[in-house]
Amino acid sequence: MQITPSILNADLANLGAEVRRIGSADMVHIDVMDNHFVPNLTLGLPVVESLRSHTDLPFDAHLMIEDPDRWAPAYAEAGCASVTFHVEAAKAPVRLAREIRKQGARASMALKPATPIEPYEDLLAELDMVLIMTVEPGFGGQKFLDMCLPKIRRTRALMQRHGVETWLQVDGGVSLETIERCAEAGADVFVAGSAVYSAADPDAMVNELRAKAEAARA
Ligand code: DX5
Ligand code: ZN
Repeated sequence: MQITPSILNADLANLGAEVRRIGSADMVHIDVMDNHFVPNLTLGLPVVESLRSHTDLPFDAHLMIEDPDRWAPAYAEAGCASVTFHVEAAKAPVRLAREIRKQGARASMALKPATPIEPYEDLLAELDMVLIMTVEPGFGGQKFLDMCLPKIRRTRALMQRHGVETWLQVDGGVSLETIERCAEAGADVFVAGSAVYSAADPDAMVNELRAKAEAARA
């Protein structure tokens, strides 16, 4: 059970200090948005490269951008341990996943709430993680979409059927109130943005979220 706080709702002008407030996190989730794939613009490669020297925590890049085929491998090269592209934007997801792995990172594929997993079943062996969005991507602080829970269950079942060790990440509206539902459905990596960064003690919140997820899975 891993907690990967999103820095989207942190103080973006103080990212170095903000990542040091989540020392218990398993990875730092970095939301890259290009104002085309989603209606919001955040940060890109130069910021990720600068931030790399400010923490020892692994980086989990979530690319909400057009043309990930062109840009994603550079995030692996910049030292991100995991690189997630959206399958809705990828032109050649198999080639892209292989390219990311070749650069030494874990390859991950994200699905928006209305995108089904079934057409991509045969890709699972090419992936180290599947990210199921539980809000429409673009903004932090949105309400968790319960309609995504059946897809989490179906994805976990497909992973078991194919005998792969792929991680299953959920992202959007994950909090102390919703994390148990996600864990019960089969998620094992949890993004939490506003839940962590609006807490008085973000690091304590990371540990509380992990404890809840572990209890729900057990
Ligand atoms: C949304 C981003 C999420 C977001 C999560 O498009 O991908 O990572 O920052 O924030 P919360 O946890 O507040 O929904
Ligand atoms: Zn994200």
